[in-house]
Amino acid sequence: MMHRALELALLGPAYGANPQVGAIILDKDLNIIAEGWHKGAGTAHAEVDALSKLPNGVPEGATAVVTLEPCNHTGRTGPCAVALIESGISRVVYASKDPGNESANGSKTLLDAGVEVIQGVLEEEADKQSVVWLTAMKKQRPYITLKWAQTLDGRTAASDKTSKWISGTESREDVHLRRSQLDAILVGTGTVKYDNPDLTARKPDGTRYEHQPLRVVVGNTELAQDLRVFNEDAPTVHLKTHDVKDVLAHLWDRGMRHVLVEGGAQLASEFISLGLFDEILIYQAPLLIGGTNVAVTEIGISTMKDALALEFVEIKKLGPDVFIRAIPKEGS
Ligand SMILES: NC(=O)c1ccc[n+]([C@@H]2O[C@H](COP(=O)([O-])OP(=O)(O)OC[C@H]3O[C@@H](n4cnc5c(N)ncnc54)[C@H](OP(=O)(O)O)[C@@H]3O)[C@@H](O)[C@H]2O)c1
Repeated sequence: MMHRALELALLGPAYGANPQVGAIILDKDLNIIAEGWHKGAGTAHAEVDALSKLPNGVPEGATAVVTLEPCNHTGRTGPCAVALIESGISRVVYASKDPGNESANGSKTLLDAGVEVIQGVLEEEADKQSVVWLTAMKKQRPYITLKWAQTLDGRTAASDKTSKWISGTESREDVHLRRSQLDAILVGTGTVKYDNPDLTARKPDGTRYEHQPLRVVVGNTELAQDLRVFNEDAPTVHLKTHDVKDVLAHLWDRGMRHVLVEGGAQLASEFISLGLFDEILIYQAPLLIGGTNVAVTEIGISTMKDALALEFVEIKKLGPDVFIRAIPKEGS
């Protein structure tokens, strides 16, 4: 049943302030009588969505199976723990614990009201599925993905600053899909000046995905407003600062929980030096261009013993390229 609830969770949007959550209501014989999922900030939470599909109420002895601990928080919608208690549910089974400061502790509210609570069912799988939102809530800043395309010799641009195209079609399609599932794309003013990128999320046929992340340009240089990043295809902000913590705080306050830093090297290096990243995605092309435009510049490390240790969690061929996903090594 929890596997089914996890599937339902994925029907909701991956971007935005709220997590993807799925919920199922079972009758006393453990037959599914309602299913629900969260469709994004401002809409019913998964438990309430499932309950709404039972116009005659919850039968006696019913169980709710939810992927995340029911919330205890009154935001734009009421607390789910209370909605479950008022529905007369007998038992609540959930997977991940809610780390949210305001929303946590729903299980205590349920227990205090005499509802049986079983926690931690498929917890590891659920935590993995919601790693972006859970990490953001724990760290109280957006989950940060750094991404770049590099040649086999680790260059991200040729000496004349051109970088189109290092990676192949399959890699670029993968990036566009990822963009459509997160809140903001960050680039430095250098990348906007040299590349004049669109930074929109486009499908392989060239049309735009329904969701477009906010385009965020970081740096003090005044930029011509006819650059593509300022077109009408997606929202854009230009933040005239070098303080990336301020940038993250600004995006957090706007409800953003997952940002993609797309470079260039100066901006990416700043995030790395401050330890502000949760994963690095590299699209490595079988090209050699030499020169000095490396993916990462100065990150404050001068000797091997201080090297930042990461671990590869995914490596696969993407067309002619190799895709690598690495995360900071635990304890480093
Ligand atoms: N292969 C790839 O994946 C990829 C991706 C992106 C870019 N590129 C290539 O990278 C090159 C541009 O890289 P880049 O390193 O020059 O550009 P960048 O990192 O995009 O921009 C550098 C600018 O960012 C601003 N900035 C904002 N916060 C900063 C901070 N904390 N520290 C330092 N600078 C900060 C500064 O601008 P102000 O002076 O305006 O304050 C700085 O000059 C281009 O050739 C582009 O083609 C390649």
